[in-house]
Amino acid sequence: MNVLLIGGGGREHALAWALSASPLLTKLYAAPGNAGIAELAECVALNVADHGAVQRFVADKSIAFVVIGPEAPLVGGLSDALAAAGIKHFGPSQAASQLEGSKGFTKDLCREANIPTGAYGRFKDAASATAYLAAQPVPIVVKADGLAAGKGVVVATTRAEAEAAVDACFAGAFGAAGAEVVIEEFLEGEEASFFALCDGTTALALATAQDHKRVGDDDTGPNTGGMGAYSPAPVMTPQLVSRTMDEIIRPTVAAMAARGTPFKGVLFAGLMITKDGPKLIEYNVRFGDPETQVLMMRLTSDLLAAMLATAEGTLDRASVTWRDDAALTVVLAAKGYPGTPEKGTEIRGLDVARSLAGVQIFHAGTRRDGDRLLADGGRVLNVTALGATVGEAQERAYHAIAKIDWPGGFCRSDIGWRAVLREKAGG
Ligand code: AMP
Ligand code: GLY
Repeated sequence: MNVLLIGGGGREHALAWALSASPLLTKLYAAPGNAGIAELAECVALNVADHGAVQRFVADKSIAFVVIGPEAPLVGGLSDALAAAGIKHFGPSQAASQLEGSKGFTKDLCREANIPTGAYGRFKDAASATAYLAAQPVPIVVKADGLAAGKGVVVATTRAEAEAAVDACFAGAFGAAGAEVVIEEFLEGEEASFFALCDGTTALALATAQDHKRVGDDDTGPNTGGMGAYSPAPVMTPQLVSRTMDEIIRPTVAAMAARGTPFKGVLFAGLMITKDGPKLIEYNVRFGDPETQVLMMRLTSDLLAAMLATAEGTLDRASVTWRDDAALTVVLAAKGYPGTPEKGTEIRGLDVARSLAGVQIFHAGTRRDGDRLLADGGRVLNVTALGATVGEAQERAYHAIAKIDWPGGFCRSDIGWRAVLREKAGG
């Protein structure tokens, strides 16, 4: 079948790579794609906010399945438009995408369904938010309710900082996303990224992963979309996986179905593993970036078949299989990220780096200019490797990075440190 993949980041390159291995695939299209995806798919410039244009493209190219990578088109209702036109697709409806599109929506759902998460309040004006803050301990977390491209969260260590975050939100720092504010209890523990395919009724857990959100070594500096990831995440023991499915994922799937807005797609739970067990920090309604890059390296079964089962409601009869090997990915970002990244700098040496055993390089923000490969975004490349252990995958990834000649870029030098420490301790 012909498939259209929406998106153009490292996540989509990894998805394109896995979809390309499917015997079910005839031809892959990507909108907009990137220079790496262009080696696997025909990249097209489509305005995905124009649902009619997407429908026409699907009809023109006899596309049988549309895979939606990023959250914005999901929250924008692309799935609903495809459903109305009878086009099979991977990605939840607009109503179900509120799990990512509104943090307050998710917190209310957790309260109703008794899902473990931090205590919270929802506010529509600064005065009531500030009054609530006065009675809360610090640190405390202030979040813009809506989609803010990963930037709407402030972990405040003082009340003054929290009040400033509230004021910034209501002053329009995050546009419409900040019209409502959620104030949330600070959770202590180790974070993990948890993914489950959901077909509206059945949830199927994927392999475990962990990412590194801070821009600098030792998890310092501002938050980013993610500077690297690895899988499996040793913190997620089989017992914690089964608690997460029982206490968080399945109750969410049931609550969404009961509301008449079943969740069909991949549910991505950002978890805090606290001393009392897993608690939900937030939901995303799409695959993680860069977590997907390591998951796809380890996936040994057919991604397209699993996505079709998700769309068709047959996950109860589906399964996914994984390599025992670990995978690790390091994000190479353009200097300036996560602020204003420098665009257009030249990258050399990728061919040598990608020819190393066990290494895949996914493009996140690149474009070609004749023979030259240029940086074209904040996160630019994901250097990804397999290994018998996270430590071995880490060594291979950094070995490959050493072959890349890109003075305009930088990366963290310690991706995977928690898992490697655990491995060294023999645990
Ligand atoms: P989010 O965009 O919601 O993933 O939040 C970004 C980051 O802020 C998370 O990855 C956590 O590191 C941190 N964070 C968000 N909410 C909390 C919380 N309730 N307690 C502790 N840290 C949090
Ligand atoms: N890496 C976290 C995310 O995709 O939101």
